[in-house]
Amino acid sequence: MRACIRSTGSYLPARVVTNAELSKTVETSDEWIVQRTGIKQRHIAAEGELTSHMATAAARAALENGKLTPADIDAIVVATTTPDDTFPAVAVKVQAALGMTHGFAFDVQAVCSGFVYALTVANGMITSGQVRRVLVIGAEKMSSILDWNDRITCVLFGDGAGAAILEATEEEGRGILTTHLHSDGRHRDLLYTNGGVASTGKAGTIQMQGREVFKHAVEALAQVVDEALAATGYKPSDISLLVPHQANLRIIEGTAKKLDMPMDKVVVTLDRHGNTSAASIPLALHDAVSNGRVKRGYLLLLEAMGGGFTWGSLLVRW
Ligand code: UT7
Repeated sequence: MRACIRSTGSYLPARVVTNAELSKTVETSDEWIVQRTGIKQRHIAAEGELTSHMATAAARAALENGKLTPADIDAIVVATTTPDDTFPAVAVKVQAALGMTHGFAFDVQAVCSGFVYALTVANGMITSGQVRRVLVIGAEKMSSILDWNDRITCVLFGDGAGAAILEATEEEGRGILTTHLHSDGRHRDLLYTNGGVASTGKAGTIQMQGREVFKHAVEALAQVVDEALAATGYKPSDISLLVPHQANLRIIEGTAKKLDMPMDKVVVTLDRHGNTSAASIPLALHDAVSNGRVKRGYLLLLEAMGGGFTWGSLLVRW
Protein backbone atom coordinates (compact mmCIF):
# COMPACT_ATOMS: atom_id res chain seq x y z
CA MET A 1 0.00 0.00 0.00
CA ARG A 2 1.18 3.53 -0.79
CA ALA A 3 -0.02 7.06 0.01
CA CYS A 4 -0.93 9.23 -2.97
CA ILE A 5 -1.85 12.89 -3.14
CA ARG A 6 -5.56 13.11 -3.96
CA SER A 7 -5.93 16.88 -3.98
CA THR A 8 -4.33 20.17 -2.98
CA GLY A 9 -5.46 23.62 -1.88
CA SER A 10 -3.97 26.89 -0.77
CA TYR A 11 -4.66 30.24 0.81
CA LEU A 12 -2.81 33.55 0.60
CA PRO A 13 -3.68 36.65 2.63
CA ALA A 14 -5.16 39.48 0.58
CA ARG A 15 -2.49 42.06 1.34
CA VAL A 16 0.46 42.09 -1.07
CA VAL A 17 3.64 43.91 -0.03
CA THR A 18 5.99 44.75 -2.88
CA ASN A 19 9.74 45.26 -2.66
CA ALA A 20 9.16 48.93 -3.46
CA GLU A 21 6.90 49.24 -0.42
CA LEU A 22 9.53 47.64 1.84
CA SER A 23 12.20 49.97 0.50
CA LYS A 24 10.25 52.87 2.03
CA THR A 25 10.80 51.50 5.56
CA VAL A 26 14.21 49.75 5.41
CA GLU A 27 17.36 50.52 3.43
CA THR A 28 16.88 48.15 0.54
CA SER A 29 15.82 48.19 -3.11
CA ASP A 30 13.71 46.15 -5.49
CA GLU A 31 16.89 45.61 -7.53
CA TRP A 32 18.85 44.13 -4.57
CA ILE A 33 16.02 41.85 -3.46
CA VAL A 34 15.27 40.54 -6.98
CA GLN A 35 18.94 40.06 -7.83
CA ARG A 36 19.90 38.25 -4.61
CA THR A 37 16.70 36.26 -4.00
CA GLY A 38 14.25 36.40 -6.93
CA ILE A 39 11.50 37.70 -4.62
CA LYS A 40 9.30 40.49 -6.01
CA GLN A 41 6.44 40.53 -3.50
CA ARG A 42 4.98 38.60 -0.56
CA HIS A 43 1.52 38.25 1.04
CA ILE A 44 1.18 39.46 4.62
CA ALA A 45 -1.62 38.37 6.97
CA ALA A 46 -4.07 40.96 8.25
CA GLU A 47 -4.17 41.97 11.90
CA GLY A 48 -5.99 39.17 13.70
CA GLU A 49 -5.56 36.75 10.79
CA LEU A 50 -3.87 33.75 12.39
CA THR A 51 -2.00 30.68 11.15
CA SER A 52 -4.99 28.45 11.95
CA HIS A 53 -7.29 30.67 9.85
CA MET A 54 -4.98 30.37 6.83
CA ALA A 55 -4.51 26.62 7.46
CA THR A 56 -8.29 26.11 7.62
CA ALA A 57 -8.86 28.03 4.38
CA ALA A 58 -6.22 25.91 2.58
CA ALA A 59 -7.75 22.75 4.08
CA ARG A 60 -11.25 23.67 2.87
CA ALA A 61 -9.87 24.26 -0.64
CA ALA A 62 -8.09 20.88 -0.66
CA LEU A 63 -11.27 19.13 0.56
CA GLU A 64 -13.35 20.82 -2.13
CA ASN A 65 -10.81 20.01 -4.85
CA GLY A 66 -10.77 16.39 -3.69
CA LYS A 67 -14.59 16.24 -3.53
CA LEU A 68 -14.33 15.25 0.12
CA THR A 69 -15.87 16.39 3.39
CA PRO A 70 -14.23 16.53 6.85
CA ALA A 71 -16.00 13.22 7.62
CA ASP A 72 -13.67 11.56 5.07
CA ILE A 73 -10.49 12.63 6.94
CA ASP A 74 -8.88 10.41 9.60
CA ALA A 75 -6.12 12.75 10.81
CA ILE A 76 -4.70 16.26 10.40
CA VAL A 77 -1.01 17.12 10.49
CA VAL A 78 0.03 20.77 10.35
CA ALA A 79 3.61 21.83 9.73
CA THR A 80 4.21 25.23 11.30
CA THR A 81 6.76 27.27 13.21
CA THR A 82 4.32 30.07 13.88
CA PRO A 83 1.37 28.55 15.80
CA ASP A 84 -1.40 30.90 16.98
CA ASP A 85 -0.60 30.03 20.60
CA THR A 86 1.97 27.91 22.41
CA PHE A 87 -0.79 25.34 22.67
CA PRO A 88 -3.16 23.89 21.57
CA ALA A 89 -1.69 22.84 18.25
CA VAL A 90 -2.85 24.62 15.09
CA ALA A 91 -3.99 21.21 13.80
CA VAL A 92 -6.64 20.81 16.51
CA LYS A 93 -7.87 24.34 15.84
CA VAL A 94 -8.27 23.37 12.18
CA GLN A 95 -10.03 20.17 13.28
CA ALA A 96 -12.52 22.21 15.33
CA ALA A 97 -13.00 24.80 12.57
CA LEU A 98 -13.85 21.97 10.14
CA GLY A 99 -16.38 20.63 12.63
CA MET A 100 -14.47 17.38 13.15
CA THR A 101 -14.73 15.53 16.45
CA HIS A 102 -13.37 12.22 15.17
CA GLY A 103 -9.77 11.31 14.39
CA PHE A 104 -6.71 13.12 15.72
CA ALA A 105 -4.62 16.17 14.92
CA PHE A 106 -1.15 17.43 15.79
CA ASP A 107 1.58 19.83 14.65
CA VAL A 108 5.05 19.13 13.31
CA GLN A 109 7.82 21.70 13.72
CA ALA A 110 10.74 21.49 11.34
CA VAL A 111 10.73 25.11 10.11
CA CYS A 112 11.16 25.33 6.30
CA SER A 113 11.40 21.53 5.95
CA GLY A 114 8.16 21.12 7.89
CA PHE A 115 5.96 20.07 4.99
CA VAL A 116 8.35 17.33 3.85
CA TYR A 117 8.50 16.12 7.47
CA ALA A 118 4.69 16.24 7.82
CA LEU A 119 4.16 14.34 4.55
CA THR A 120 6.68 11.73 5.72
CA VAL A 121 4.85 11.27 9.04
CA ALA A 122 1.48 11.02 7.29
CA ASN A 123 2.92 8.61 4.72
CA GLY A 124 4.15 6.37 7.55
CA MET A 125 0.73 6.37 9.23
CA ILE A 126 -0.97 5.42 5.95
CA THR A 127 1.50 2.73 4.84
CA SER A 128 1.37 1.13 8.31
CA GLY A 129 -2.41 0.85 7.91
CA GLN A 130 -3.22 3.11 10.88
CA VAL A 131 -5.25 5.60 8.84
CA ARG A 132 -6.50 5.88 5.25
CA ARG A 133 -6.67 9.61 4.67
CA VAL A 134 -4.62 12.46 6.16
CA LEU A 135 -5.01 16.20 5.66
CA VAL A 136 -1.45 17.58 5.59
CA ILE A 137 -1.04 21.35 5.86
CA GLY A 138 1.88 23.76 5.84
CA ALA A 139 0.85 27.12 7.32
CA GLU A 140 2.90 30.08 8.47
CA LYS A 141 2.53 33.62 9.68
CA MET A 142 6.21 34.46 9.27
CA SER A 143 5.39 38.17 9.54
CA SER A 144 4.81 37.57 13.27
CA ILE A 145 8.45 36.58 13.89
CA LEU A 146 10.16 39.20 11.71
CA ASP A 147 12.06 42.25 12.87
CA TRP A 148 10.66 44.74 10.38
CA ASN A 149 13.74 46.96 10.90
CA ASP A 150 16.15 44.16 9.90
CA ARG A 151 16.62 44.42 6.15
CA ILE A 152 18.58 41.14 6.11
CA THR A 153 15.51 39.07 7.07
CA CYS A 154 12.33 41.14 6.65
CA VAL A 155 12.57 41.20 2.85
CA LEU A 156 12.69 37.40 2.58
CA PHE A 157 9.55 36.01 4.18
CA GLY A 158 5.80 35.93 3.60
CA ASP A 159 2.60 34.40 5.01
CA GLY A 160 0.28 31.71 3.62
CA ALA A 161 -0.87 28.13 3.77
CA GLY A 162 -1.04 25.11 1.51
CA ALA A 163 -2.65 21.72 1.98
CA ALA A 164 -2.55 18.25 0.45
CA ILE A 165 -4.81 15.29 1.12
CA LEU A 166 -2.89 12.03 1.29
CA GLU A 167 -4.80 8.80 0.88
CA ALA A 168 -4.09 5.10 0.71
CA THR A 169 -3.92 3.59 -2.75
CA GLU A 170 -3.29 0.12 -4.07
CA GLU A 171 -2.80 1.44 -7.60
CA GLU A 172 0.48 0.05 -8.95
CA GLY A 173 3.31 2.59 -9.13
CA ARG A 174 1.39 5.58 -7.76
CA GLY A 175 2.06 7.56 -4.60
CA ILE A 176 5.00 8.47 -2.39
CA LEU A 177 7.95 6.31 -3.47
CA THR A 178 10.64 7.41 -1.03
CA THR A 179 11.30 10.05 1.63
CA HIS A 180 14.59 11.14 3.24
CA LEU A 181 14.86 13.31 6.35
CA HIS A 182 17.91 14.79 8.07
CA SER A 183 18.73 17.25 10.81
CA ASP A 184 21.86 18.62 12.45
CA GLY A 185 21.29 20.70 15.57
CA ARG A 186 24.84 22.04 15.73
CA HIS A 187 24.07 24.92 13.35
CA ARG A 188 21.58 26.69 15.59
CA ASP A 189 23.53 29.96 15.58
CA LEU A 190 23.19 30.36 11.81
CA LEU A 191 19.38 30.45 11.78
CA TYR A 192 17.18 30.86 14.88
CA THR A 193 14.73 33.08 16.73
CA ASN A 194 16.11 35.17 19.58
CA GLY A 195 13.35 34.09 21.92
CA GLY A 196 10.85 31.40 22.74
CA VAL A 197 8.37 30.00 25.21
CA ALA A 198 10.80 28.73 27.84
CA SER A 199 13.68 31.14 27.26
CA THR A 200 12.27 34.66 27.02
CA GLY A 201 8.54 34.07 27.13
CA LYS A 202 8.27 35.88 23.77
CA ALA A 203 8.39 34.36 20.28
CA GLY A 204 11.48 36.38 19.26
CA THR A 205 12.46 37.32 15.74
CA ILE A 206 14.39 35.50 12.99
CA GLN A 207 18.17 35.90 13.06
CA MET A 208 20.11 34.58 10.10
CA GLN A 209 23.69 34.33 8.78
CA GLY A 210 22.41 34.28 5.19
CA ARG A 211 25.62 33.47 3.36
CA GLU A 212 26.42 30.52 5.66
CA VAL A 213 22.85 29.15 5.45
CA PHE A 214 23.08 29.45 1.67
CA LYS A 215 26.22 27.27 1.55
CA HIS A 216 24.71 24.62 3.80
CA ALA A 217 21.46 24.66 1.79
CA VAL A 218 23.25 23.95 -1.50
CA GLU A 219 25.14 20.98 0.03
CA ALA A 220 22.19 19.56 1.98
CA LEU A 221 19.83 19.73 -1.00
CA ALA A 222 22.35 18.03 -3.28
CA GLN A 223 22.62 15.22 -0.70
CA VAL A 224 18.86 14.59 -0.33
CA VAL A 225 18.23 14.78 -4.06
CA ASP A 226 20.97 12.17 -4.64
CA GLU A 227 19.48 9.99 -1.89
CA ALA A 228 16.00 10.09 -3.43
CA LEU A 229 17.38 9.06 -6.84
CA ALA A 230 19.67 6.36 -5.42
CA ALA A 231 16.82 4.85 -3.37
CA THR A 232 14.55 4.51 -6.38
CA GLY A 233 17.03 4.01 -9.22
CA TYR A 234 15.61 6.97 -11.18
CA LYS A 235 17.80 9.31 -13.22
CA PRO A 236 17.47 13.11 -13.01
CA SER A 237 15.92 13.02 -16.50
CA ASP A 238 13.06 10.83 -15.14
CA ILE A 239 11.83 13.70 -12.91
CA SER A 240 8.84 15.46 -14.47
CA LEU A 241 8.69 18.39 -12.05
CA LEU A 242 10.85 19.75 -9.23
CA VAL A 243 8.85 21.36 -6.40
CA PRO A 244 11.50 22.95 -4.20
CA HIS A 245 11.28 24.95 -1.00
CA GLN A 246 11.11 28.60 -2.05
CA ALA A 247 13.90 30.42 -0.19
CA ASN A 248 16.15 31.78 -2.90
CA LEU A 249 15.98 31.54 -6.70
CA ARG A 250 19.76 31.06 -6.87
CA ILE A 251 19.51 27.98 -4.62
CA ILE A 252 16.62 26.59 -6.73
CA GLU A 253 18.54 27.22 -9.97
CA GLY A 254 21.58 25.50 -8.42
CA THR A 255 19.57 22.35 -7.69
CA ALA A 256 18.01 22.41 -11.18
CA LYS A 257 21.46 22.79 -12.74
CA LYS A 258 22.83 19.88 -10.71
CA LEU A 259 19.94 17.76 -12.03
CA ASP A 260 20.46 19.15 -15.54
CA MET A 261 16.79 20.19 -15.50
CA PRO A 262 15.49 23.11 -17.59
CA MET A 263 13.73 25.73 -15.46
CA ASP A 264 10.39 24.97 -17.15
CA LYS A 265 10.39 21.71 -15.14
CA VAL A 266 10.83 23.65 -11.88
CA VAL A 267 7.97 25.22 -9.92
CA VAL A 268 8.88 28.76 -8.85
CA THR A 269 6.49 30.82 -6.75
CA LEU A 270 8.87 32.77 -4.54
CA ASP A 271 8.71 35.78 -6.87
CA ARG A 272 5.06 36.12 -5.76
CA HIS A 273 5.06 34.50 -2.30
CA GLY A 274 8.54 35.06 -0.83
CA ASN A 275 9.75 32.40 1.60
CA THR A 276 6.70 31.08 3.45
CA SER A 277 8.68 28.41 5.35
CA ALA A 278 6.60 25.22 5.81
CA ALA A 279 3.87 26.64 3.53
CA SER A 280 6.16 27.16 0.54
CA ILE A 281 6.10 23.63 -0.94
CA PRO A 282 2.32 23.05 -0.65
CA LEU A 283 1.71 26.56 -2.04
CA ALA A 284 4.02 25.79 -4.97
CA LEU A 285 2.49 22.33 -5.44
CA HIS A 286 -1.05 23.70 -5.54
CA ASP A 287 0.05 26.46 -7.92
CA ALA A 288 1.43 23.81 -10.31
CA VAL A 289 -1.64 21.54 -9.93
CA SER A 290 -4.12 24.35 -10.52
CA ASN A 291 -2.18 25.54 -13.57
CA GLY A 292 -2.39 22.05 -15.11
CA ARG A 293 1.38 21.48 -14.84
CA VAL A 294 0.97 18.21 -12.89
CA LYS A 295 -0.36 15.25 -14.86
CA ARG A 296 -1.23 11.69 -13.86
CA GLY A 297 1.92 9.56 -13.95
CA TYR A 298 4.31 12.49 -13.41
CA LEU A 299 7.27 11.97 -11.10
CA LEU A 300 7.60 14.91 -8.67
CA LEU A 301 10.64 15.66 -6.52
CA LEU A 302 10.02 17.76 -3.41
CA GLU A 303 12.97 19.09 -1.40
CA ALA A 304 13.56 21.55 1.43
CA MET A 305 16.13 22.84 3.86
CA GLY A 306 15.67 25.13 6.83
CA GLY A 307 16.21 26.08 10.45
CA GLY A 308 17.49 23.37 12.74
CA PHE A 309 19.13 22.64 10.38
CA THR A 310 16.57 20.29 8.93
CA TRP A 311 16.42 19.04 5.36
CA GLY A 312 14.64 16.40 3.36
CA SER A 313 13.34 15.14 0.04
CA LEU A 314 10.40 13.13 -1.24
CA LEU A 315 9.60 11.49 -4.58
CA VAL A 316 5.97 11.04 -5.51
CA ARG A 317 4.36 9.49 -8.59
CA TRP A 318 1.18 11.48 -9.31
O1 UT7 B 1 14.41 29.04 4.24
C1 UT7 B 1 15.40 28.69 5.15
C2 UT7 B 1 16.72 28.65 4.54
N1 UT7 B 1 17.15 29.99 4.21
C3 UT7 B 1 17.85 30.20 3.15
O2 UT7 B 1 18.04 29.29 2.38
C4 UT7 B 1 18.44 31.57 2.95
C5 UT7 B 1 19.82 31.41 2.40
N2 UT7 B 1 20.51 32.68 2.19
C6 UT7 B 1 20.17 33.54 1.24
O3 UT7 B 1 19.19 33.36 0.55
C7 UT7 B 1 21.08 34.72 1.00
O4 UT7 B 1 22.26 34.57 1.76
C8 UT7 B 1 20.43 36.10 1.33
C9 UT7 B 1 19.39 36.43 0.29
C10 UT7 B 1 19.82 36.06 2.71
C11 UT7 B 1 21.48 37.20 1.28
O5 UT7 B 1 22.13 37.21 0.02
P1 UT7 B 1 23.74 37.24 -0.05
O6 UT7 B 1 24.09 37.34 -1.47
O7 UT7 B 1 24.25 36.06 0.70
O8 UT7 B 1 24.09 38.60 0.66
P2 UT7 B 1 24.95 38.87 1.97
O9 UT7 B 1 24.24 38.44 3.19
O10 UT7 B 1 26.33 38.35 1.75
O11 UT7 B 1 25.00 40.45 1.96
C12 UT7 B 1 25.63 41.19 0.88
C13 UT7 B 1 25.48 42.66 1.17
C14 UT7 B 1 25.86 43.03 2.60
O12 UT7 B 1 26.50 44.29 2.56
P3 UT7 B 1 28.12 44.39 2.58
O13 UT7 B 1 28.55 43.69 3.84
O14 UT7 B 1 28.58 43.67 1.34
O15 UT7 B 1 28.34 45.85 2.57
C15 UT7 B 1 24.53 43.18 3.29
O16 UT7 B 1 24.58 44.07 4.38
O17 UT7 B 1 24.09 43.04 1.03
C16 UT7 B 1 23.66 43.73 2.20
N3 UT7 B 1 22.25 43.46 2.41
C17 UT7 B 1 21.26 44.17 1.82
N4 UT7 B 1 21.30 45.21 0.99
C18 UT7 B 1 20.13 45.69 0.56
C19 UT7 B 1 21.67 42.47 3.15
N5 UT7 B 1 20.35 42.54 3.06
C20 UT7 B 1 20.06 43.58 2.24
C21 UT7 B 1 18.87 44.12 1.77
N6 UT7 B 1 18.94 45.18 0.93
N7 UT7 B 1 17.67 43.64 2.10
